[in-house]
Amino acid sequence: MDSIDQIQKTALKDIEKAADEEALKSLKIEYLGRKGKLTKILRELKNLAVEERVLTGKKANLLRRELEENFNKKENLLKARIKKTAFSEEQIDVTLPGRKTLIGHLHPLTKIRNEVEEIFTALGFVVAEGPEMETEHYNFDALNIPADHPAREMWDTFWVDETGAANGKKFLLRVHTSPVQIRYMETHQPPFRLIAPGKVFRYEATDASHDIQFYQVEGLIVGKDTSAANFKNLIPVFFKKLFNKEVKIRLRPSYFPFVEPGFEVDMSCIQCAGKGCPVCSRTGWLEIMGAGMVHPNVFKAVGYNPRLWQGIAFGVGLDRIAMMKYKIPDIRFFHANDIRFLKQF
Ligand code: PHE
Repeated sequence: MDSIDQIQKTALKDIEKAADEEALKSLKIEYLGRKGKLTKILRELKNLAVEERVLTGKKANLLRRELEENFNKKENLLKARIKKTAFSEEQIDVTLPGRKTLIGHLHPLTKIRNEVEEIFTALGFVVAEGPEMETEHYNFDALNIPADHPAREMWDTFWVDETGAANGKKFLLRVHTSPVQIRYMETHQPPFRLIAPGKVFRYEATDASHDIQFYQVEGLIVGKDTSAANFKNLIPVFFKKLFNKEVKIRLRPSYFPFVEPGFEVDMSCIQCAGKGCPVCSRTGWLEIMGAGMVHPNVFKAVGYNPRLWQGIAFGVGLDRIAMMKYKIPDIRFFHANDIRFLKQF
């Protein structure tokens, strides 16, 4: 059995050294618990001779009180220390500058699309949409491009696995937004004006000005006396609003199966205002859209009487417009997801 003096020495040292409340608790058990070192001595008192019992008893009880006091003191000390560290750790310096949250923003193509929609809706157009995966019927046949027609060669097409095709219809990724013309006319009666923005796909090699996916905006105006003159007046208004510059256009004869006559539309180069520069290959003009008077066969395909209605259709590449407006040299940047590029808009 440890002597009372020994217990006093080690106990006081141990208490002093206890690093946290947990350690202090087990020390208390070690010395004052039911089987503790000091408790043992107090229990054994009855086996001692009377004189010794009185003496030892007194000493042991004194030590017990001393230890209890020391345990309490140390416990208070540890508690105070915890409070203090918690306070300094949880302190908030309200004068520190705030942390900046990074906020995303619209893709340049989305911005252009929104602008184009705003300009045309202000001019009385509605916005229509169609699916990106189309049937052969909407993408080609109803647009006066039958299966054996050489004009199909104009569009390098991604055909979709035919096992997915329903009752003989072949699926494809639409090569232009023109099928939305058909879908809209099937469900609406003229007169109307619409634009149809959306993604289109071409199976071709990519370079700085060609990608396998890009955006178009289709336009369609149908009325009793809609004419090419309406179109020639409308498009410069659109370009002026979009580029904030006076823009001239010129029409060149061209061929698209769903229009007759068909045009290629050039606009005066916004870089050099028509004087000639590297952007326009020194011609002063930029090829910007296809257009034409709606072909009677297209009206027939949707059940309109071509003797009653006349239409103007046009299709413009959104990416090309964005490239001109923001001076972007390569169309592939739009889908490269390079944050250094996207951050600039
Ligand atoms: N759909 C044509 C293309 O993508 C563009 C176009 C639209 C031409 C409307 C004329 C009329 O090539």
